Amino acid sequence: MQRRDLLKTATASVAGLTILRSGTLRGQDAPSNKLNVALVGVWGRGTAHYNSLIRENVVALCDINDQRIKEALQIFPKAKTYWDWRRMLAQKDIEAVVICTADHHHAFIANWALNRDMHVFCEKPLGISVEEARTVRANYLKRKAKLATQHGTQRHAFPNFARLRELVMDGAIGDLKTVHSWDSRQLPRPGYPAGQGQPPPQLHYEQWIGPSSYHAYTPQYFGGSNGMNCLFWNMYRDFGVGQMGDMGAHTMDLVWNVVDAGGPMAIEIDQEVSDKYNPDICPVKLKASFEHPANQWRGPITLVWYQGGLKPRSPRGYIYVEKIDNGAIFEGTKGSIIADFTTRLIIPNNDDGDLTYYRRRDKSHLEALVGGVGQPTQAPPRPSPQRPRAPRPLPPGFKAEPDAKPTASGFPEIQITDKGLPAALGLPNPEVEAILEAQKSGTMDNRRPDIFQVEWLDACKGKYNGVTHGTSSKTHCDFDYSGTMIEQMLLGLVAHRAGKRLEYDSAIGRVTNTSEANDYLKRTYRPGWPLNG
Ligand SMILES: NC(=O)c1ccc[n+]([C@@H]2O[C@H](COP(=O)([O-])OP(=O)(O)OC[C@H]3O[C@@H](n4cnc5c(N)ncnc54)[C@H](O)[C@@H]3O)[C@@H](O)[C@H]2O)c1
Repeated sequence: MQRRDLLKTATASVAGLTILRSGTLRGQDAPSNKLNVALVGVWGRGTAHYNSLIRENVVALCDINDQRIKEALQIFPKAKTYWDWRRMLAQKDIEAVVICTADHHHAFIANWALNRDMHVFCEKPLGISVEEARTVRANYLKRKAKLATQHGTQRHAFPNFARLRELVMDGAIGDLKTVHSWDSRQLPRPGYPAGQGQPPPQLHYEQWIGPSSYHAYTPQYFGGSNGMNCLFWNMYRDFGVGQMGDMGAHTMDLVWNVVDAGGPMAIEIDQEVSDKYNPDICPVKLKASFEHPANQWRGPITLVWYQGGLKPRSPRGYIYVEKIDNGAIFEGTKGSIIADFTTRLIIPNNDDGDLTYYRRRDKSHLEALVGGVGQPTQAPPRPSPQRPRAPRPLPPGFKAEPDAKPTASGFPEIQITDKGLPAALGLPNPEVEAILEAQKSGTMDNRRPDIFQVEWLDACKGKYNGVTHGTSSKTHCDFDYSGTMIEQMLLGLVAHRAGKRLEYDSAIGRVTNTSEANDYLKRTYRPGWPLNG
């Protein structure tokens, strides 16, 4: 098929966001047209979902921290409460689940919820082993006619994601050959921290550990502020996958949306520039290359991932790649595009390229944006050194915002609140406070829900861009799309551990040239924690 023909088909299906005809949707018939939603993990990233969930029926709240439940109950007073999500998922009226826990529970909760016919929104990453990502994707694919899913890569709502896809598919840089993408965050850790003190009574620590190997309690895992505490545990392999699943999920999404790839055929780590494999800690520096076969509209491509300060060469001396924290360079036979989440720059080869080979598509064939209009990026200028953001007042006893960067001990310095708790266990819930204030002052309407989350809530109800179809609608980052993306990133960690180039059969999920690497595709769990329960 010619690129432009495919474009028509691809655009048609994406623009209509493929309405699936079979299956009945849970929640679509509710008289109030409100969905019965459960939120697991109610502080931190969970608070980013309040503005959309407050418009639905929140029927269940689950958190391993009893104090967080008490706070969230103030704005979701009808919810039943739990500290164990396995018990919560037995609640019969739940139609949809939002997962905002630590990463090592994600695939478990997602699988259990899908297996009970519940719609799922899962914060990134979908899983922390290849097996976890594949199981969730398979469970979704079995039920995609009746269930809506969304992976928490909300930056996908920026129109730049669609604009990049249009440029590359329409040939603005000729034939696509290689894509480089990177993240810059560096959170080295010397090993698991030693146990320190006892978990406070409000914390169900054993449940936080959940399926993973036991590690004694330490405030080190709970040192972060709202939505940033993941940086205090995600470098430890039993709880996360470092930047491959953190900013890697967001940044690879920018690439994945363009390239229409499935699983890679081969994965290779540049061992010379990457950190040495450590069984306990995820690598800071990593350079991984993924080879992908040709698809209908392009030839074979190589995707190269850089993290921990490693970066590709800049396409031009005047572009300082080192100043771009997260970005991508798409290289084609006629030019390159360098992009971050919200901006892009086309650089024709030889700079005098006339671009006449490139046929810009007309308005009626543009890619569908999340919510129809996408997340606007023409916002007022961001704070800069000339225009600093007003500092947030610090809680009593805090010298600075909690910082996940290591100090001389090799670990971050953990600040303790006046109640004797590390930040993530003791800081207030700012979103609950803001919503209570808005309810009091009658300004709730000013608190707009995030369009990326609304896309999923609408899809659960069979709605797309305000039109009700009565059957499941596709979301931009469902577990098919994001499952393969995360599987690729996790394969990078497998190749790092194997120490050699891996050949991979993505149809069956097996490494074909090194049998022991297949053991690294999965992890072992404590008893009582079936992955696919
Ligand atoms: N999409 C984004 O931009 C974005 C931003 C930040 C974090 N995240 C993701 O959100 C998730 C949470 O990150 P965070 O920084 O808020 O972490 P966190 O450690 O603050 O945890 C969030 C909440 O979940 C609760 N929790 C943790 N494990 C639980 C479990 N097993 N059962 C029930 N409750 C549990 C915690 O008590 C806390 O209230 C992570 O997976 C992270 O990757 C996504």
